[in-house]
Amino acid sequence: MDKIKVIGGAQLNGTIPISGAKNCALKLMCASLLTGDSMYFENSPNTLRDMRSQVELLEYLGCAVKREDDMMAINAGNIKTYTAPYDIVRKMRGSILVLGPLLARFGEAKVSLPGGCAIGTRPVDLHIKGLEELGATITLEEGYIHAKAPAGGLQGAKILFPKVSVGATENLMMAATLANGTTVLANAAREPEITDLGECLIKMGAKIEGLGTDTIRIEGVKSLHGARHSIIPDRIETGTYIIAAGMAGGTVRLKNARIDDLSAVLGHLSQAGIEVEKDGGDIIVRREIERLRGVDIMTEPHPGFPTDLQAQFMAMLCIAEGAGLVTETIFENRFMHVPELSRMGADISVQGNSAIVRGVPTLKGAEVMATDLRASVALVLAGLVADGETTVNRIYHLERGYEDIVGKLSACGANIKRISGE
Ligand code: UD1
Repeated sequence: MDKIKVIGGAQLNGTIPISGAKNCALKLMCASLLTGDSMYFENSPNTLRDMRSQVELLEYLGCAVKREDDMMAINAGNIKTYTAPYDIVRKMRGSILVLGPLLARFGEAKVSLPGGCAIGTRPVDLHIKGLEELGATITLEEGYIHAKAPAGGLQGAKILFPKVSVGATENLMMAATLANGTTVLANAAREPEITDLGECLIKMGAKIEGLGTDTIRIEGVKSLHGARHSIIPDRIETGTYIIAAGMAGGTVRLKNARIDDLSAVLGHLSQAGIEVEKDGGDIIVRREIERLRGVDIMTEPHPGFPTDLQAQFMAMLCIAEGAGLVTETIFENRFMHVPELSRMGADISVQGNSAIVRGVPTLKGAEVMATDLRASVALVLAGLVADGETTVNRIYHLERGYEDIVGKLSACGANIKRISGE
């Protein structure tokens, strides 16, 4: 099992390049299925494990995929199957996003239910219901979603999401680009990744209005064409390194980062004592005070505080002065990092979907286990400031979403290394 070892205590000083947004890149790859022409993506985080899983899926479907440095080219002109098999889909929920594009372009798709949802269809019910409202017939058999479009293709419709969902908004937006007539997505998600996906679809010839608002209007077109698109910087990676720099102290420049996508987080950071300044296309981060202060946060759909930064913020609260209340409203079970942080000496008590974090003067290095992507990185951040050595085991998840985290942090002075296990 591969591990990361960190010896805490070093300040961070230097420059960290921010990669393209994973949660955008994965969806743009699915959008490539909407056209037989080639798509070219720049600033693509090609080394991530999730990206490799998505490439595996697209190649299985028949796409030609080429990668070089941070460029990715995809051609879906020769699709061989409309089936996304369990073995690939189970690795990552993002693969459910092939459903809408396959159905819209080919009138048919069979996609495995993502792993971990054998007890029901709840986690993708909004995707399924929305596609049904566009006229698709959907059946669930042996763990697969079978979707068929009516003979004349999908039909535009007004879809009101009962709950805000990033993935369902994206799946429906992509499907609607090739539907007959107009689709209105109400109570749509507003994440910057959705806007970026929409902008790429527009370059491909789609007609979309209202990106970045909760009502997206899509007028279907007969076909889409190839395009070239540069992927936005990863706001979650950016936020993670801002928090890291705030915790460890020092001055860090985040290269090619967008401060505007983090507006809900900036107020909390400055209340905590972390100064974030825009410098052209970069962000400069400094800790303003000797010891950070406790601050309350509550996760919400964008433009609220992102759930994907909750674990990292909690790691920061562990060493802040005073207490902070963390309330998680997006996912029911997203405090899996709490027992691990507690092993490092954190003082956290959880009640329902809230956790009160009382800052301690120092954390102590320990052996900890990474449980999911953002929880894993929170443990690395805690290790950066803990006394002694922290070993983060099972870093599989970390490598799904952070490009070269060891290289990026050690370039700024962190004492961190990756150890390949047996
Ligand atoms: C995406 C992000 C993930 C982020 C999340 C929320 C990707 C690959 N992942 O996940 O990193 O944490 O947005 O910002 O982009 N839900 C249903 N039924 C559905 C769909 C969702 O009940 O059909 C629920 C989910 O269980 C969750 C909430 O809605 O409680 C929000 O989920 P959603 O926004 O869909 O998250 P993802 O798109 O899966």
